[in-house]
Amino acid sequence: MGIRFGGDYNPEQWPEEVWAEDLALMKAAHVTMVTAGIFSWAKVEPRPGEWDFGWFDRVLDGLAGAGIEGCLATMTASPPPWLTHAHPEVLPQGPDGQRRWPGARQHFCPSSPVYRAYAVRLVERLAARYAGHPALAMWHVGNEYGCHTRQCFCDASAEDFRRWLRERYGSVDALNDAWSTAFWSQGYGDFAEVLPPRAAPTFPNPAQQLDYLRFSDRALRECYLAEREVLDRVTPGVPVTTNLMPQHKPVDAFGWAPHLDAMALDFYQDPQVADDHVRAGYVFDLMRSARGGQPWLLVEQAAGAVNWRPRNGPKPPGAMRLWSWQAVAQGADAVLFFQWRQSRGGAEKFHSAMLPHAGTDTRIFREVCELGRELAAVPGIEGARSKASVALLADWQSWWALELDSRPSTALDHSRIALEHYRPLFEAGVACDVVPPRAELAGYRMVVVPNLYLLTAEDAERLAAFVRGGGRLVVSFFSGIVDACDRVHPGAYPAPLREVLGLRVAEFWPLAQGRSVAVGDGDRDGAPAGRADLWSEEIVLEGARAVARFVEGELAGGPAVTRHAYGRGEAWYVGTRLEPALLRALLDEVRAAAGVAPVLPGLPAGVQAAVREGAGGRYVFLLNHGSGPVEVELPEPLRDALVPRAAAVTRVGLAARGVAVLTGPGRQEGGGGAGA
Ligand code: GAL
Repeated sequence: MGIRFGGDYNPEQWPEEVWAEDLALMKAAHVTMVTAGIFSWAKVEPRPGEWDFGWFDRVLDGLAGAGIEGCLATMTASPPPWLTHAHPEVLPQGPDGQRRWPGARQHFCPSSPVYRAYAVRLVERLAARYAGHPALAMWHVGNEYGCHTRQCFCDASAEDFRRWLRERYGSVDALNDAWSTAFWSQGYGDFAEVLPPRAAPTFPNPAQQLDYLRFSDRALRECYLAEREVLDRVTPGVPVTTNLMPQHKPVDAFGWAPHLDAMALDFYQDPQVADDHVRAGYVFDLMRSARGGQPWLLVEQAAGAVNWRPRNGPKPPGAMRLWSWQAVAQGADAVLFFQWRQSRGGAEKFHSAMLPHAGTDTRIFREVCELGRELAAVPGIEGARSKASVALLADWQSWWALELDSRPSTALDHSRIALEHYRPLFEAGVACDVVPPRAELAGYRMVVVPNLYLLTAEDAERLAAFVRGGGRLVVSFFSGIVDACDRVHPGAYPAPLREVLGLRVAEFWPLAQGRSVAVGDGDRDGAPAGRADLWSEEIVLEGARAVARFVEGELAGGPAVTRHAYGRGEAWYVGTRLEPALLRALLDEVRAAAGVAPVLPGLPAGVQAAVREGAGGRYVFLLNHGSGPVEVELPEPLRDALVPRAAAVTRVGLAARGVAVLTGPGRQEGGGGAGA
C-alpha cells in the first residue's frame, strides 16, 4: 500500500456534481486515502431516528470505484441541532456553571448518557451499513477529543465523577486520605457530598483538581471506547483510531495509546515560527514511541495557511513537502491533510486545503500532486522502524499536577520545559524516543527527565535501577516531589531520587519574572559559565559533586548542576533552568559519557537526519530546515530513492527546505529502546 496520502473529505459541503471532479483530481494528486464524514451527523440523521445514508453510499461507492481507501468517521464530533434542542442537558458546563451553547462543534458533555446513547446509536447504524464495504479501510472515531470541550462541570459529570471515585478509592475514608481533606475542613462523610472542582472562593483542593483532570481524560476516552466497542463487534478486523492533538493537555496520549490501533496525529507547523520543526520533532517522536515504535499516522496538516492563529502565514514553497517528509522520517506511514477541497462557507473557508479556492492552477495543488507522486514512489518505507538510544520522559500525570495553582511558581510550563530539553538532542542529530515513566528503559543508554514533579516511588526506583545498570540519567529541577495524590514524598526533596542523585534540596528559590542568575565553575576547571533563570534551589550534596555553581544571588556558592556516580552509571541533576547553550553543553557531556552518537556524523547545522529500516529496505532521510543550500557527506554510498535507477553517491546537495530520501544496504547504528 505504501505511505497513505490524502485528507479529510467533506463532500456534504458541495453539490453532488462536484464529487466526480473530486475523484478525478484525487487520482491526479495520487490520493490513496480520505477521511470521510467527520461532520456529517446532521446530514445522515436530519431528524431523530430519520436516516439518510443514500448520499454517503454514493460517496463511498465513488471512492471504492476510484481505488481510494476510506477512513470512515463515526460522525459524532458535532451533535446536530435537534439533539441539543430536545436535550439541552447534553451541553457542556464550565466550572462557573455556565452552559456552552450549540452553534460551533464539540458542544457535548463527555459524561452525558444522552449524548453517548445517541452517538452509539449512530455508530451502530454506520457500522452495520458499511461493514464489508470495499471503501472501508479504517475507522476514525469522534474528532480531536478535548479540543474545545476539555472538561465539563455539569451535574451529569458530577455523578460520573462520583462513580469514578468510588471505583478508584472504594471508600470515602480512602478518598479523604488521598485528597488530604483534613486540610481546610474538607473531610467527606459520603461520596454523595463530592463535587467537581467548580469555581470556588480560592484554590480548590489540588488532589481533587488532579483527579478531575484524570477523570475528564477518562470520560473522553469512554466516549471513544463506547463507539469502539460497536466497531470491534460489527466490523472486526478494521483498524480503529482517533486523531490526537500535539502536546494536548486534556488527553493523555500514552494512556490512550493501547486503545488505538495506530497513533494518529493532527499537526500544524507554524510557518511564522522559525524552528517549529523542533516542536514537530518532539511530538512525532512521542507518537512513534507511544506504541513501542509502531509507525503512526499524520492524519491532519495544512497544505498552506490555517485560519485559527491570530495571523496565519502561508507555507512558503517547499515547506509543506519538507514537513511532510519530516513526519515520514520520524515514523509516519500516512500524510493526510485537513482538508481535500477548501470550503466556500463556514468557519474554515480561509483555512488552506489540498485543492484551493483558486483551483488546480495553483502552487499548492502542484505541490500536493508532486508530494503524492513522490510518496507513491517509495512504497517500501511503510512499516519501517527506527532505533534510538536516548529516551526523554514525558508524563501527563505530572504535567497536570505541575500546572495546578498553589505551587512555588506558576511559571513552570511542562511543554516548554520538555521542548527545551529535547531541542539540544534534536539539534545534535540524535535519535530520541519520548516515553512515559513506566516505559522499559533498559535498552537506552541515556534518559533525560525534564521537570517530573509527580513521580511515584516505583517509577523513581526504575530510574535508579536504570543508572545502577550502567545508564546515564539527567534530571532537572522540581522533579520527584509528590506522589500520585499530589502529596509530598516523605523525607527531604526529592525523596525518591535522593539516593540516585546523591543530594537533597533544602529550599526552593523560584526566580522572579525577568530575573536571572549567573552560574559558573563547579568542582572542576573549565565548567561552562552562563546564566540561568526561572528557578533555583538550595542543593545539599550527599555524594554528588557540583559541576556548576550559582555565582551570584542568595545561593551564590551553592551547587546548580551536579554529577553522581551510582552503581555502574551516573546521574546528573540540574537545579535551575540553564540558558540554551549551557543545557546543550551539559547534554553533550552526558551523551559523550553515554557513548551516544548522532544518526549521521558531521551534519551541517539545520539538517535533520533520520533512519527507518524494515522489510522494504533501509531509508536515510535528510531534511534541510535551514535557509541556505548545504552539502552533506555520507559515511557510505547511498542512492536517491525518489529517482529511478539513481547511482549511489557519498555526497548530497540539499537546497534550502530540500529533502533527500536515500536508500542502501546495511543496518542501523545505535542502541535498542522503545523503537527496537
Ligand atoms: C482540526 C480539526 C479539523 C479542522 C482543522 C483546521 O482541529 O480536527 O476539523 O478544524 O483543525 O486546522
